[in-house]
Amino acid sequence: MRGKSRNPNLLLVDNCEGSCSRIVEEIGDVSKRHPLRVWLVVLLVLDLVGVRCWRHILFVVMCIQEKHWIGIESSKGVAMAAFGIRIMLLMAACLLPLSAEAMVRHYNFNVVLKNVTRLCSTKPIVTIDGKFPGPTIYASENDTVLVKVVNHVKYNISIHWHGVRQLRTGWADGPAYITQCPIQPGQTYVYNFTLTGQRGTLWWHAHILWLRATLHGAIVILPKLGVPYPFPKPNMEQVIILSEWWNSDTEAVINEALKSGLAPSVSDAHTINGHSGPIQGCASQEGFKLNVEPRLTYLLRIINAALNEELFFKIAGHELTVVEVDAVYTKPFKTDTIVIAPGQTTNVLLTTKHAIGNYLVAVSPFVDAPITVDNKTATATLHYSGTLGSTITTLTSIPPKNATPLATSFTNSLRSLNSKEYPAKVPLKIDHNLLFTVSLGINPCATCVNNSRLVADFNNVTFVTPKISLLQAHFLNIKGVFTDDFPGNPPRVYNFTGTQPSNLRTMKGTRVYRLAYNSTVELVLQDTGMITPENHPIHLHGFNVFVVGKGRGNFNPTKDPKKFNLVDPVERNTVGVPSGGWTAIRFRADNPGVWFMHCHLEIHTTWGLKMVFVVDNGKGRSESLLAPPNDLPKC
Ligand code: C2O
Repeated sequence: MRGKSRNPNLLLVDNCEGSCSRIVEEIGDVSKRHPLRVWLVVLLVLDLVGVRCWRHILFVVMCIQEKHWIGIESSKGVAMAAFGIRIMLLMAACLLPLSAEAMVRHYNFNVVLKNVTRLCSTKPIVTIDGKFPGPTIYASENDTVLVKVVNHVKYNISIHWHGVRQLRTGWADGPAYITQCPIQPGQTYVYNFTLTGQRGTLWWHAHILWLRATLHGAIVILPKLGVPYPFPKPNMEQVIILSEWWNSDTEAVINEALKSGLAPSVSDAHTINGHSGPIQGCASQEGFKLNVEPRLTYLLRIINAALNEELFFKIAGHELTVVEVDAVYTKPFKTDTIVIAPGQTTNVLLTTKHAIGNYLVAVSPFVDAPITVDNKTATATLHYSGTLGSTITTLTSIPPKNATPLATSFTNSLRSLNSKEYPAKVPLKIDHNLLFTVSLGINPCATCVNNSRLVADFNNVTFVTPKISLLQAHFLNIKGVFTDDFPGNPPRVYNFTGTQPSNLRTMKGTRVYRLAYNSTVELVLQDTGMITPENHPIHLHGFNVFVVGKGRGNFNPTKDPKKFNLVDPVERNTVGVPSGGWTAIRFRADNPGVWFMHCHLEIHTTWGLKMVFVVDNGKGRSESLLAPPNDLPKC
């Protein structure tokens, strides 16, 4: 079965659970609340008072009404009459030119505790409306989204719309103490932002404490009405959220680690749309079932919402075609395995076979550093309709967890589409050439085990979270909250990927790097071998960045830039820094505000692997940060 909507790009799988549901449910079923005649009167009045967008309102109402039309009317005669009017209106709607005008989408997010059983044990988790994973936000490009978040739990809450550019609307970005004070228990905040020039899959998650472990969900941005995908149109689509599950309370896990100064315990399982599949110790744990029909093309919107682990994703016996990452179209390429870091999203096309069967979907960790990870494989089933229950599931091999060549060849295959419609606007003239080392470190701690604690840093600065939000401090010119002196280059230069210095200490500070509006930045992110080299998925808020180069060892400022790809580099919001190597990114600072940059491995963020870019206003209103909303939470 399929849920149909008027947007030809929207065909959603009906028979799924977790994150997937029909658009009528997501935007609220208006027809149940307002019969057609009420709408017609409303439209007439709108027309009389001069609101000329009534055609579009009518169109949308009709879309929503479509499924419920007959059911609204009581008698058969009225139903027939309604049917007649419907046909007439449909014809009228077809004759009227429909522009791709944007809509306002309203969502209510109630943050509530919910008892959930996984891996044969039960615990309360923080959710939106009791859902895990959380509800999907559906919108079209250029729509405005208003999400009213009501905090019913004992924790402070803030929600980040990961990858949404938030042009001039930094107040809605979400990281706690960076762009807002958190929403306190019992309080409410309406996030109000517009999805300008973005289409594809993004996601939302809590941006405070470790609450994003369970507080996360998808954002699906459809192309504007009438604008096709730049790839064969999929018949159906499905959100796939990968995550990690701890049997213990995740706040207890991180608090324990912070007390001891040591690394936290790894998760007990990975999950696919909230389910791990059977694992050792809990054979009865069900897996997610992706029901498909033969000979169709499915768009899978894959999100890595895990806290600390990069993941491989594959489906037995099926090839995947990557078409988009982080809500930017890519040159399509085929692969049997994708690698995806926390924070990243990947859209793939899956074409089903001509026959029936059950096929294993496998999610396993990728780590090429000597650190402990949760080594369990999460499994789901790709189930063809009509396949008998007794049919054996076709299995697949799991990549070794340190399969660096596989991961590298995947990331090297990613290229911007760079077509006429979707050009890659790579900055060619650079105003700021920056180099940040990405490191772990050790600082003294009198109360910790070993009298020391693990920390992390960019350029040897372990970021200290302020007591009020930096965006407020910036906007209201409050002194003493942050300093403008984040170093643009490493304060100590050594062979970053060779022998490490014996001093592993870092500096502490709430230091920001200031950029003029529209200035251009090239930033080389250089991993080091301090404690251990490791992959770091670095996420920049407020921007997409182009990955113009990457390599092993130390970045060479004379040789390496010659090999940069300035034509069709992949454009994304979360970029991997390879273990013991470097990545060079470019972006244009065309978004005024305060923008967080951090490692999306949650433990590294906690340890201080984060910093902030402040982008000053440009000229006039259109280049300036908006004023804060009245309901902005107070600290
Ligand atoms: Cu997805 Cu600052 O985070």
